[in-house]
Amino acid sequence: MDWWIETNMDYKKITENIKSGFTKDQLKSLDLITGFDSLKLANGGDNDAEGYQIFTPAFIVKDMVKAIGEKDVFNPDKTVLEPTSGDGAFTTYILLRRLERAFKEDKDEFEIQALKCLSTIYSIEMDKDLIIKQRNNILTVFTIFGRDHKIDYSDGYLDLVRCMILTNFMWAMFNADIPATFLIVEVAYKMPEAEKGKMKSLEFPVWDISGNGVTYHMEGAEINYD
Ligand SMILES: C[S@@+](CC[C@H](N)C(=O)[O-])C[C@H]1O[C@@H](n2cnc3c(N)ncnc32)[C@H](O)[C@@H]1O
Repeated sequence: MDWWIETNMDYKKITENIKSGFTKDQLKSLDLITGFDSLKLANGGDNDAEGYQIFTPAFIVKDMVKAIGEKDVFNPDKTVLEPTSGDGAFTTYILLRRLERAFKEDKDEFEIQALKCLSTIYSIEMDKDLIIKQRNNILTVFTIFGRDHKIDYSDGYLDLVRCMILTNFMWAMFNADIPATFLIVEVAYKMPEAEKGKMKSLEFPVWDISGNGVTYHMEGAEINYD
């Protein structure tokens, strides 16, 4: 049986509105989010071609998330930040588990709950090819989940998901050199500027998702060691 998802949200209109605020570069990056036939994760603990990027295998991801606390990590009201995220070993797993929970809880509310699940996952990666790959992996989680659970996503829905992926899965450089003397430090810097030594603080999207609509605004972020 196909699950008919009830919604009165005009996702097409919402997405057009969000896209109208995107820059040309953002729109170009959005076009690259098309998804894959299946997840493409270097999850065997493999090195990349240069031998310096090593990705976490699925069984370790699972154990690490358990160690952090599944109750919190899989709760869409909690915020997750993966600061050096590669191709998405952690983010794809966390999203999938959140979607499973949302679907189990209430199939009729799945579309909107799934947006909430995605909206509080943030990801930073400095390698442009990897963040592009990860964005596609994240969209793939949605499409495969939809296929496996016979979900007929509303018109414009996956386009809105792509917009959210673009904003939350950020090409940026995490601030790994936290100066010991400061109590407050910036979380990350925008790319490509950071590559050239121009350290522009990264802002994060904060999503407002309700039965009436979906919007977001950008906010600065700092790590507070106080
Ligand atoms: C060892 S891989 C792990 C990727 C992923 N977390 C996983 O477990 O599969 C580390 C990744 O962090 C990225 N990276 C290293 N330093 C970074 C920084 N300061 N900001 C953002 N990304 C960084 C690298 O490009 C690489 O993709």
